[in-house]
Amino acid sequence: LIERKNKPYDEIVDRIGWNISNLIEDGATVGLHVGRIFNAVADHLKNKKNLGIVTHVVSDWAIDLINSGAISLDRSRFNGGLITASYCYGSRALYEYVDRNPIFEFYPIARLSNPFVVRRIQSLIGIVNVKKIDISGESVIFHSGDNLITGYESKLGFAVAATISKKGKAIVALNSVDKQGRSNIVIKHDCDVENPHSTLGVVKYIVTEYGVANLFGKSIRERALAMIDIAHPDHREDLLNQAKAHNYVYADQIYVARHAAHYPALLETRKSLKDGLEIKIRPIKTSDEDMMRRLFYNFSDESKYFRYFASKPIMPHKEMQKYVSIDYEDVLSVVAIVEKGRNERIIAEARYAYDKKTDAYEVAFIVDEEFQGKGVATFLFNYLTKIACDRGIKWFIAYVLPRNEAMLKVFEKSKIKITRSYDVDAFTLHFNLAQTDVDREAAVTK
Ligand SMILES: CC(C)(COP(=O)(O)OP(=O)(O)OC[C@H]1O[C@@H](n2cnc3c(N)ncnc32)[C@H](O)[C@@H]1OP(=O)(O)O)[C@@H](O)C(=O)NCCC(=O)NCCS
Repeated sequence: LIERKNKPYDEIVDRIGWNISNLIEDGATVGLHVGRIFNAVADHLKNKKNLGIVTHVVSDWAIDLINSGAISLDRSRFNGGLITASYCYGSRALYEYVDRNPIFEFYPIARLSNPFVVRRIQSLIGIVNVKKIDISGESVIFHSGDNLITGYESKLGFAVAATISKKGKAIVALNSVDKQGRSNIVIKHDCDVENPHSTLGVVKYIVTEYGVANLFGKSIRERALAMIDIAHPDHREDLLNQAKAHNYVYADQIYVARHAAHYPALLETRKSLKDGLEIKIRPIKTSDEDMMRRLFYNFSDESKYFRYFASKPIMPHKEMQKYVSIDYEDVLSVVAIVEKGRNERIIAEARYAYDKKTDAYEVAFIVDEEFQGKGVATFLFNYLTKIACDRGIKWFIAYVLPRNEAMLKVFEKSKIKITRSYDVDAFTLHFNLAQTDVDREAAVTK
């Protein structure tokens, strides 16, 4: 038997594994392969519940994952074993573990690579690890090792199955840079020296150590910006300039690479609201511009007036791009996202921004009318308050029209000491964060 030494993985691969694991929900069926990225994913799946494994190749990650209790005893996922595969490749310890172990069941690769067979598994997760990807997320260069064993073709077949499976996800994973420090996200592949393969339009989640780009339903402009967001910070500026030269993004597109590199990923969290609505909360990104504009155009004139204190019929690219390109320090904005299948929709935004004149951070909120009254703004205000207190911010300030009873209610419900005054036609509220007992439980971070 050919033995494969189980190699340790570094911090970067660990981060990729963590990012991928956040895309995998309890109950999903995961297709892991051989390699360090898959070991890292498996290590981060140990706290999940009711997972299944259907894959071409089972490797050493299986032992720890089974021992962790994350794999369920649901035998209906495929036809039989808890772990369904075509073959096994790994260490001697793995071969001994698999030998005559009824947990494992093996099927011909032709069967397990057939998207029309595997697609019937619900919530199927296909992960393809590649060397390079182009900025549209459509064209990849595989590792040379992928010509061995099952090869890239079966991984792509599995990605197709994951995409057409109900609630499935096809994920591409890669390091943001190669060993020489060159970006693995490129504008175009060098076809003279490389052999690019199309991801057949099915792969929608691209993951590096810098995060996840969800390309589902996005325009080329949105895709390019989302891909730049997960590129190595040293290459983002250059990628943006090249994207401009290829007309993938507007010529005046702002992208402050320095700011994007400070993206506070640890502020990403999830919350279940009172009526069961699940929202994902994360800091805003430059690539959110189009989603934010869609949010803006959903609002009634009254909501816009409450937010901007003026009639505001349009939100041009020039204005919105400044709004979404923030430094995460003087200005911090978080968005609430609702996921429907692979679709993401921003349904709310909350921010604070430093105001020199008052020496305080001005807070402002907006929640999609379809989602108002569910506690979104209440949660976001608690969350911003917690972040501000952690960062040593002492004062928030807010300007609210007297008619805006919902906003006043959200503020009044908080445990912060508020001083209220009336100027011209709006209330000015001062929040003393130094004298507050923030409900830290209500704003739990991951
Ligand atoms: C103000 C706004 C952000 C609130 O968002 P939201 O997610 O609906 O807020 P929540 O659900 O967390 O809380 C709203 C509270 O106000 C109450 N409320 C709603 N409308 C109300 C009204 N007309 N009178 C009194 N209370 C009202 C709700 O019952 C709820 O209180 P409860 O949780 O005790 O039941 C949202 O309405 C909005 O986007 N408005 C337009 C933009 C805006 O006004 N921005 C503020 C600029 S600073």
